[in-house]
Amino acid sequence: MEIIRAKEMGFCFGVKRAVKTVEETAALAAGPIYTLGPIVHNDEVVAQMQALGVWAKDAIDEIDDGTIVIRAHGVPPETLDAARDKGLRVVDGTCPLVIKVQQLARALHEEGYQVIIYGAPQHPEVIGIAGWAGEGAVVVQNLDDVAALPRHKKIGVVSQTTKIPADYQAIVGALMGKCQELRAHNTICNATAQRQAAAVETARQVDVMLVIGEAHSSNSRRLAEVCAQVNPRTYRIATADELDAAWFAGVAKVGVTAGASTPDAAIEQVIAWLKTSTD
Ligand code: F3S
Repeated sequence: MEIIRAKEMGFCFGVKRAVKTVEETAALAAGPIYTLGPIVHNDEVVAQMQALGVWAKDAIDEIDDGTIVIRAHGVPPETLDAARDKGLRVVDGTCPLVIKVQQLARALHEEGYQVIIYGAPQHPEVIGIAGWAGEGAVVVQNLDDVAALPRHKKIGVVSQTTKIPADYQAIVGALMGKCQELRAHNTICNATAQRQAAAVETARQVDVMLVIGEAHSSNSRRLAEVCAQVNPRTYRIATADELDAAWFAGVAKVGVTAGASTPDAAIEQVIAWLKTSTD
């Protein structure tokens, strides 16, 4: 059976960098190490981090001493201030592309624009960007939210990095009707789109498509959805343990992709299973 790997899959650049930052910090730092929320939404990675002595906490209030590593999503400046005020050592693992969005939002605010952030209000990245955008920033999730906005002289808009470009374009178009001057920054990271395009391209060529990612990873579920649209024999699995040899009976080609929170080790375990357990 031929195994075809999607050209782009697994951890994006920002997540790889944040995981490396945590590992390097764990190797060097004395005292406890924490992240605010899990570094990646993957149980295996969380367990590996715990083995290194790195613990995920929900809030600064729960941490009394040691080092805190900021994950790729970033945090509002108040969180950094609160950590430093408590005497914690802060290591910043924020993705550089997210830092860029935070800086753009702040600059828009300082230049007198009403800042609009297109994204999910409860997503940690959006909470972080809103913090950097200063008071009065508004998060919109859809065109109804834009329709409900009052008119402003100047509006500046940024997007959560993982949003879909066409949806953001529609939001930007609708905002034109809400102001005299609009400044729109394209802050969408192409890692998500590249992974989806590569997954679909692979799914089209194979008999069975595998998407490796946990059920609580929204981008893994989305990858499975887009693959299933072009290949109904698509299976999402968290680990190689969930594979079933019956799926591959008579199959000539199997495709493999993985969500942005899936570690390379999980991908390699699936590939190894396919090589040894089928034929
Ligand atoms: Fe990943 Fe950074 Fe893009 S965290 S999805 S590379 S914005």
